[in-house]
Amino acid sequence: MHINIVPIHEANDDIVYFEEKSCTEFGKVQLIPKGEELIVYIGIGQDSLTWEDIRFLGGISRKNLNNAKDAAVSAEFSLIMDRAGNPELGQVISSFMEGWYLAEYQFSSYKRTATSNQLTMQWEDERLREYDHAARIRANAVNLARDLCNEPANKLTPTTYAERLKQEFHETDVSVQVIDGNELVSNEFAGIHTVAKGSSEPAKLVVLTLARDASKEKIALVGKGVTFDSGGTNVKTGKDIGEMKMDMGGSAAVAGAMKLLADSNTAANVVAILPLVENLADGNAFLPSDVIRYRNGLHVEVGNTDAEGRLILADGILYAQLLGAKTIVDIATLTGSIGSALGLKAAGVFSNAEADLWHYKQLGDQTGDYVWPMPVFDDYLHYLKSDCGDFNNMSSSPYGGSITAALFLKQFVEKEIKWVHIDMANTVRPWREQGYYVPGASGFGVRLLFEMVKSEAAQS
Ligand code: BES
Ligand code: MN
Ligand code: ZN
Repeated sequence: MHINIVPIHEANDDIVYFEEKSCTEFGKVQLIPKGEELIVYIGIGQDSLTWEDIRFLGGISRKNLNNAKDAAVSAEFSLIMDRAGNPELGQVISSFMEGWYLAEYQFSSYKRTATSNQLTMQWEDERLREYDHAARIRANAVNLARDLCNEPANKLTPTTYAERLKQEFHETDVSVQVIDGNELVSNEFAGIHTVAKGSSEPAKLVVLTLARDASKEKIALVGKGVTFDSGGTNVKTGKDIGEMKMDMGGSAAVAGAMKLLADSNTAANVVAILPLVENLADGNAFLPSDVIRYRNGLHVEVGNTDAEGRLILADGILYAQLLGAKTIVDIATLTGSIGSALGLKAAGVFSNAEADLWHYKQLGDQTGDYVWPMPVFDDYLHYLKSDCGDFNNMSSSPYGGSITAALFLKQFVEKEIKWVHIDMANTVRPWREQGYYVPGASGFGVRLLFEMVKSEAAQS
């Protein structure tokens, strides 16, 4: 059996008549057996195609073949080329295949019956294989992030997470260091230590280093890694709290980006800082009204133990500066408010270098990891004032929660350091299971962080 994927923009004799009108709609698939071949007609339906559209076409094609037998597959790209404005064929193939491999993903570790079929792409011209390969590498990195997010909290604890990262980066150019136990206390990781106190799972701080080109300025990626967020003493009461197994989505995005940087041989000087904790409440838990002293001398009053993300990220940001990073990008499932502000399609991007925000928005559009520029109004510092310490981790205002969270983080960034913050609480899952998205986590942030690192590295 051979499978051929044929994009169409108008009906032909093969297509059943009553379907004629809709058969050319974007993403509409019809499987037509023809002798020894199965033809996959997929509608283009648009005069122009974005990169995300092309990834979606790959993803939709693959999903429609989940029940097909193992087979060799070929695809025709001329119509896509035409509608995409004739970019490089290699780029089109890479995008299509990225969607293909992302759609192939299943999280089936705990299913007795997992089925998947082997579909192997055939390339007439051997030189095209490298673009397929590049897509595979990219999708594998996103799928690593998806895997980490999809793991339930009893399987992915800070300890097993750190072990997993050691394995993942074994024999790569990325070195893995784990700081834990007394070292967290003696090295002044006060936020990480404090948040983890109420859990029997010990905190881990994982540091991933990729110093391929040490002549470049160091970039730090800091990812929130709360393997479960119960809210702590300010316990969460909502019904969907199982979602909080994905409160490590920021750290997963960073891990995926590091894998992509490593596997694609990118010349970069990057350090990833991943604070991993579980936010629970037992007799040792931190309490509202507690005060935390950070390594830079700032004291934070805990107004709410459910605003734990910013407490551990503050340690990450301070450590990034201690390690000499000149640019810091942090990413976190930080606030429910970001979803109220933006809905579920785009994460929020914040920075102390506002002029660059539209550039990140553009990188998001290219990669499919959509972000939208958000403000960091210094005036709102008023809402973070504390009677007891320098700042409160909880805003006194019910409004603009994502902005006050960002502003809290900004207090730990030194003036000359470029800082970018991505709040992805609303995008850790896909907003709709369309295109190449499958049940479970989206894998958001991997491709965006990768492009951001490349773009920053190109400037330094
Ligand atoms: N992990 C949550 C944010 C979150 C909410 C992620 C929904 C994914 C989906 C975070 O730690 C949190 O609890 N934030 C609080 C902050 C508040 C207490 C200031 C929130 O958003 O309500
Ligand atoms: Mn929380
Ligand atoms: Zn959280």
